[in-house]
Amino acid sequence: MQRLTDLLARSERVVGFTGAGVSTESGIPDFRSPGGVWSRYDPSEFTFGRYAASPEVRARSWLMRREFFATPFEPNPAHHAFAALERAGRCLGVVTQNIDGLHQRAGSRTVVELHGTATEVMCIGHAPVHGTPDGCGFHETHAWAMARVDAGDPDPACPSCGGIVKSATVSFEQVLFPGVVEAAYDLASRCDLMVAAGSSLQVYPAAGLPEVALGHGARLVIVNDEPTPLDSVATLVVRGKAGATLGPAVEEVLS
Ligand code: APR
Repeated sequence: MQRLTDLLARSERVVGFTGAGVSTESGIPDFRSPGGVWSRYDPSEFTFGRYAASPEVRARSWLMRREFFATPFEPNPAHHAFAALERAGRCLGVVTQNIDGLHQRAGSRTVVELHGTATEVMCIGHAPVHGTPDGCGFHETHAWAMARVDAGDPDPACPSCGGIVKSATVSFEQVLFPGVVEAAYDLASRCDLMVAAGSSLQVYPAAGLPEVALGHGARLVIVNDEPTPLDSVATLVVRGKAGATLGPAVEEVLS
């Protein structure tokens, strides 16, 4: 903890890189821990292509989304730590793989959502191919879609063009949204410390960002419950809970 606090105190341009592990202390299960999402749903079922092709997959996907949002969740000290560092002018922003919107709700202003957001839905067109959404531009809140599912429509269609509606997330075999990778690389190349918290660092291109930061001379802290493939190149590895470690460390630095 002292080494974490010292590294944070010496850094002026921190960038957070977060995964599902920063939201488990808010009550949201991660993906690859025991009991995680992929132990209850088959990820190969929810690829972009299968979603676009199958009304049944879409109906099951909306029910999975309902489960995801069923229990109200709030930001935890890990989210608040990055927001506090940003307010103090010491954090350039957060690049997150998460789709829960908790960094923004904690007050972070610069948040790059590499895998989109489950808080919104969008039209992806009638027959999108090659993992590329081809919608008319329709965007609405997640609540809009849930209201239609609750009213008995298992697979709400775009009210503007009749196309397929999907959560504004990046599914497996879907291309990332334009400009997002560039924004993430820009932050990773400008930081002097990257804090990678709550990610198993297994999914690319996201997991390549800590290496971009290192390549530009930044230091790397990994805060994670379990070992990751990048532990050997990190300046510091904190084996523990993201909220319980980052919260107090940032409080001490800012006090
Ligand atoms: N504090 C610290 N680490 C934690 C905590 C916690 N409170 N809770 C879980 N972890 C760790 C787990 O040990 C695990 O190593 O966080 C990591 C979460 O890893 P994953 O479940 O693989 O989540 P993530 O790295 O975000 O997955 C990346 O994979 O399925 C896709 O698109 C999905 O964005 C996701 C991407």
